[in-house]
Amino acid sequence: MTALLDVLARRRSASAKFLVAPGPDEATLGQMLKAASLAPDHGRLVPFRFIRITESSRARLADVFVEATRQDMPDAPASELDKAREKATQGPCLLGLVAKIRSDLPKVPPSDQWLTVGCALENALLALGEAGYATAIRSGGYLETPAVRAAFGLADNEHFTCLLAIGTATDWPPAKPKPEAASLMSIW
Ligand SMILES: Cc1cc2nc3c(=O)[nH]c(=O)nc-3n(C[C@H](O)[C@H](O)[C@H](O)COP(=O)(O)O)c2cc1C
Repeated sequence: MTALLDVLARRRSASAKFLVAPGPDEATLGQMLKAASLAPDHGRLVPFRFIRITESSRARLADVFVEATRQDMPDAPASELDKAREKATQGPCLLGLVAKIRSDLPKVPPSDQWLTVGCALENALLALGEAGYATAIRSGGYLETPAVRAAFGLADNEHFTCLLAIGTATDWPPAKPKPEAASLMSIW
């Protein structure tokens, strides 16, 4: 238990702007996928998948994110469009996490499936962290826009949940405070 808590306590979010090479190699990405595959999964629906964004796709992704930001924020200032470009270019390795949520299963409601997506994300973060890589998650309304949906050919029940930038951190943001563990449970 102590070893597990140590692993969990070591995980923390990096800033994508401070991620440089090296990023994970093929073997590490394979271990990350294995970790994600071990997530608890009611109905065994596997309600998630990862998309690997290659170096040669970054410029195109930047254009997609600029268009997505315009769709999400019609009055977006130029600074927001610059940030949208940065989201596509930061991090030596960039993944997308897509949720595949079915709403036709009364015994496995969407909330169960979303929890599996979150568990898969945490497993992936832990595996990458233990392999020595820093990770930064990014989400936002722009990921649910028609521009992004069309670019990635998402099915109607798929959601581009977040970006995962992975690499080596040259600097870290301050560690985030965590809730008092004893406050997380009541007696009934
Ligand atoms: C689904 C999800 C989406 C997130 N999106 C963002 C984001 O858009 N921008 C950001 O700076 N951090 C994002 N984060 C990271 C959280 O801000 C971070 O986990 C939180 O501040 C706690 O810090 P820690 O990860 O170091 O424990 C996201 C985390 C999750 C789980």
